Amino acid sequence: MKKVDLTEAMAGKLPEWVVFVITADANGKPNVMPAGWVAFASGSPPMVTVALHPNRYSHTLLEQAGEFVLAWAGEGQEGLVKFAGAVSGRKTDKFAQMAIKTSKAAVVKAPLIEGCAMALECKLAGKMTAGDHTVFAGRIVASHLSDPPIASILNFGKENYVPALPKGK
Ligand SMILES: Cc1cc2nc3c(=O)[nH]c(=O)nc-3n(C[C@H](O)[C@H](O)[C@H](O)COP(=O)(O)O)c2cc1C
Repeated sequence: MKKVDLTEAMAGKLPEWVVFVITADANGKPNVMPAGWVAFASGSPPMVTVALHPNRYSHTLLEQAGEFVLAWAGEGQEGLVKFAGAVSGRKTDKFAQMAIKTSKAAVVKAPLIEGCAMALECKLAGKMTAGDHTVFAGRIVASHLSDPPIASILNFGKENYVPALPKGK
């Protein structure tokens, strides 16, 4: 190996899954943004983390509601990934603009988005400031899988999104 600066080294962590963070305000109006900094953190109880910058509207809504959905983007949702990652729900109703089809979640107020590969409903269990982001830990309270399976989207950087499905699916 050769010693390089962090920016160069970070290319080695790609691809990463593209995961939608879905939240809702007090009136139930939903918002969505794509996130890459998502990680499973505990098996029992099942928990997952997501790192959000404080200037994201999703950060505000997640803290206010104390719950959220993480949904793995599915093949065909590349346009939604780009749009939802480029504008803020503070100014734009992304669900109306993109005519996003939703279904009711089992436990949380935020909806599920049709066409995702997998979705986890989460209750906020803790948070920690990590430099310029906040790491939110969510306890998974319900889980959903597309039926039939949909390929998840891998992000190779520079808006190079590639759908991937395990062999045999
Ligand atoms: C592929 C992709 C991954 C992203 N990952 C993250 C992330 O992990 N954390 C974060 O705070 N923002 C991330 N962003 C940026 C947010 O999605 C973007 O700022 C979004 O417009 C915020 O929307 P909101 O203000 O409605 O919450 C990512 C964007 C893209 C396109």
